[in-house]
Amino acid sequence: MAARTFAQKDISSNLHPYTNYLVHEQVGPKTYTRGESVYIWDEHGKKFLEGLAGLWCTSLGFSEQRLIDAAAKQLSTLPYNHSFAGRTAPVVTELADQLTSLAPEPMSKAYFVSSGSEAVDSAVKFVWYYNNALDRPNKKKIISRTKAYHGVTVICTSLTAIPVVQEAFDAPMSRFKQTGTPHYYRYAEAGESEEEFASRRATELEELILAEGPDTIAAFIAEPLMGAGGVIPPPRSYFQKIQSVLKKYDVLLIADEVITGFGRTGNLWGSETFEIVQPDIITCAKQLSSAYIPIGATMISEEIYRVIAEASNRHGVFGTGFTYGGHPVAAAVALETLKIYEERNILEHVREVMGSFQKRLEALGSHPLVGEARGSGLIGAVELVADKSTKESFDPELKMAIQVYQECLEQGLILRALPAGDTLGICPPLIISEMQINDLFDMLEAALDIVAKQHSV
Ligand SMILES: Cc1ncc(COP(=O)(O)O)c(C=O)c1O
Repeated sequence: MAARTFAQKDISSNLHPYTNYLVHEQVGPKTYTRGESVYIWDEHGKKFLEGLAGLWCTSLGFSEQRLIDAAAKQLSTLPYNHSFAGRTAPVVTELADQLTSLAPEPMSKAYFVSSGSEAVDSAVKFVWYYNNALDRPNKKKIISRTKAYHGVTVICTSLTAIPVVQEAFDAPMSRFKQTGTPHYYRYAEAGESEEEFASRRATELEELILAEGPDTIAAFIAEPLMGAGGVIPPPRSYFQKIQSVLKKYDVLLIADEVITGFGRTGNLWGSETFEIVQPDIITCAKQLSSAYIPIGATMISEEIYRVIAEASNRHGVFGTGFTYGGHPVAAAVALETLKIYEERNILEHVREVMGSFQKRLEALGSHPLVGEARGSGLIGAVELVADKSTKESFDPELKMAIQVYQECLEQGLILRALPAGDTLGICPPLIISEMQINDLFDMLEAALDIVAKQHSV
């Protein structure tokens, strides 16, 4: 069949996610053809440092032969199997055991899916099923935070509290409520300490629960460090205060570790870094397989599992599951990824280089365009402001973060202008060296200088 041709510059039929299609028709696609270590090359042979690890996920870089071999070996022995009705493959069982034993708090079971969104979507279904099983049919509402990012299925769109994700999709649906972002720089009141701000956020959460009725609130979902919404670490004591409110009203906590899982913040889990004690459900994906293959997981506590197990017997089965959940090739790659993390002591490497990363990041805080430079471990962001003293934002029409992003590309650095505010995310592969960290920040600094000059800042 003859290939279709298009008048516009994008000559393919690929409908890109998170894309302005009219702009895209003018500028065409950006095509990348090859990757190695922390670098990626475009179709013209230009080399880029992949400063956001793809989408916060390619932890081991782009040329990890052991992952390729693990996939090939599994493809040549058992390329497909499923997990319905108790069926499994050895690699899937091994991965489930490995993952639950690595969890920050004891987790009983791991339910495999193919993406972060499916992991979060499944977490909500677990919570609903659990409360139905406990004969609490009204306890179904889920609370997330403004600027949270939890994915884009229909359920996840109601949790991801970012205007561009929700507005045109009639979200959030009525079972989903939002409470305030724990962003001290943006939302603390004059003279308020971090602890006081954390207490205020916890009080707001309690007020929301009381206003809705505690018997209607099922769960609270949180990224330990908010990612796509702006890379926002919580203020000191935040989760401790939030968790005492949740406990008081018997509200489950879902820790969404899709970005923070597997070493990103200098501990295996963001829950450890930010002192989330005993999450009831944990979702993960991305770095679970270094993104070489799609896989995610929803882990549940023994308490939730027991209730669900009894109910599955009453209903006949636990009536949900994906064709590709527990895919053996994905499981083989994930298992090998976890082995590499351990054998090469990737966590130790992150701890060795994250000091330099955070030092260079912090230094950007004094750049005239930057209001706040913030982060943890090997993840960070710079938020651009028009006025450093008043924290006034730039006119959104200027698209300042996109201008800096474009200038970074010129320099040979790929970052991401995040979908909430004038903020650029930085999240390189975990294997990045100290020298490459310096290259990354040299390029970002140069890009900021050029854009500042263009705007006479
Ligand atoms: C914290 C968090 N949860 C869920 C998701 C959704 O993951 P996916 O894009 O794999 O569906 C993301 C994606 O960035 C995320 O950052």
